[in-house]
Amino acid sequence: MKEQLTKIYENATEDLAKAVSINDIEEIRGKYLSRKGEFNEIKKNLKNLSDEDKRVVGSLANEITQKLEFALKEKHEEFYKKELNEKLKQQKIDVTLPGKFTPRGRVHLLTSTTEEIVSIFHSLGFSVVPQENSPEVETEYYNFDALNVPKDHPARDVQDTFYTEAENVVLRSQTSGAQIHAMEGKNPPIRVISPGRVYRNENINARKNNFFHQIEGLYVDKDITFGDLKGVLNEFIRIYFGASRPTRFRNSFFPFTEPSAEVDVQCIMCEGKGCRTCSGTGWLEVLGCGMVDPNVLRGVGIDPDVYSGFAFGMGVERLAMLKYAVDDIRLFFNNDERFLKQF
Ligand code: DAH
Repeated sequence: MKEQLTKIYENATEDLAKAVSINDIEEIRGKYLSRKGEFNEIKKNLKNLSDEDKRVVGSLANEITQKLEFALKEKHEEFYKKELNEKLKQQKIDVTLPGKFTPRGRVHLLTSTTEEIVSIFHSLGFSVVPQENSPEVETEYYNFDALNVPKDHPARDVQDTFYTEAENVVLRSQTSGAQIHAMEGKNPPIRVISPGRVYRNENINARKNNFFHQIEGLYVDKDITFGDLKGVLNEFIRIYFGASRPTRFRNSFFPFTEPSAEVDVQCIMCEGKGCRTCSGTGWLEVLGCGMVDPNVLRGVGIDPDVYSGFAFGMGVERLAMLKYAVDDIRLFFNNDERFLKQF
């Protein structure tokens, strides 16, 4: 039995010498030291020996298994360190390498300009109408009829307005229809603005695109006067362009306002002397406005003898072009990073 033990130990040592991985070691452990391992088989037979032999063989068996356990543990540690080192070598991170560059996104100039204008009107007491009151696909009723635009008005021509397959449905050519949505079924006071996209069947050039953005405004209440209109729009321009810019209100016409005006700001390029940007006039047109036509109020069930109001509309591209000296409207839409990253 002693010889048997020694033989098994030699075999185990040989196996261990051939081992190359933690896996091999665990196999050896299973083969020799587990419950069904070779040493245990021998220990089971100890009971057939004399007491004296039991003691001798037993202690030899213990000594040998302990030696083997110790050798396995050492090898295990050795392989563990080796395998870990290899893994670390493969996964090594070179902290001196330059990082991967991810360009930073930014808010589009039209978005930031819209946000700026909206926040100015917020500070003047206007709130933004809900999106459903400002649809881009609109009926002729909201885009024209309810705004007092005559049936034969040139703006209704297919050359100016995009018509759809559906009868009376257009891509809106102005945000003014939002005024009607804002007034329908509501009682004044109404003090709202509505930013959004509009579409026109234009030949595209540096000044015109076939879609652009407007911000519509409306204030209806008792005793609203042209003085209120001037006060609000002058304050808006003062905040947007800076306090030193003179403005002027020029007589104009829109079907849905009476009287109507266009507002000019002193040219920001030449400060009124006259240059290419202002076509030599010294002034830049920034928005249209007027007192809401009584016909429009009547159409939405608001009594023009009790209430009055003013409305205004401005082009976001135009306001951004004037403030940031952008000389081509197409720059807003062709996604050229060299342009976009300047703002
Ligand atoms: N809708 C007009 C346009 O597209 C702009 C405008 C003018 C809006 C006068 C108004 C207004 O609300 O009162 O040219």
